[in-house]
Amino acid sequence: LLGIGVLVSGRGSNLDAILRAVRNGSIRGARVRVVVSSDPEAKALKVAERYGVPAVSVSTEKGRAEAEGEILRALESHGVLPESGLVLLAGYMKVLSSAFIAKYADRIMNIHPSLLPAFPGLRAQKQALDRGVRVSGCTVHFVVPEVDAGPIIIQRAVPVRGSDDEDSLSARILRQEHRAYPLAVRLFAEGRLRIEDRRVVVKA
Ligand code: GAR
Repeated sequence: LLGIGVLVSGRGSNLDAILRAVRNGSIRGARVRVVVSSDPEAKALKVAERYGVPAVSVSTEKGRAEAEGEILRALESHGVLPESGLVLLAGYMKVLSSAFIAKYADRIMNIHPSLLPAFPGLRAQKQALDRGVRVSGCTVHFVVPEVDAGPIIIQRAVPVRGSDDEDSLSARILRQEHRAYPLAVRLFAEGRLRIEDRRVVVKA
């Protein structure tokens, strides 16, 4: 069974989508073992509780090295091991160190609310609106030290309408996030993702 750890900072709707997909059997051979939040007030902690998944919050006040040590211990003690587990960033708003990323090499995924490499960083939906693009979407990718730059697993596109504001575009993209992330996890759990030359090859 693939052991999954999910790192969150906020609302937790992507976490919810993944937990639902495990529960209803569309992701097989995997279990979410632990949820780690960078914010003790995150709604995502309640989502974890609803599904009976252990959840902890890890403060970054003492610095990133200390926090990442705690995250690592939480993951490992729940069986999400560097050689065999999978770490999902789901609205996790901290940047992981390259040491942490190297430990879970090719076993950390992130979801980002734009069609990368367009609009990396914060408030991607607002960046898209400000730039006047006609299409945006979401990207699930493997995490590398450079932020929002890793090998792309899945993208889903949505139209951008003249009447959109940040909220309406974010909501349209979010509906696609909730389809894309569980699908990416499913492909990983089925052993169908391989990274070749910074690109992800999906096996049939
Ligand atoms: C999602 O839109 C996700 O793509 C975005 O934060 C939101 C989290 O929502 N992530 C980033 O912007 C990462 N830089 P959620 O907590 O409801 O899943």
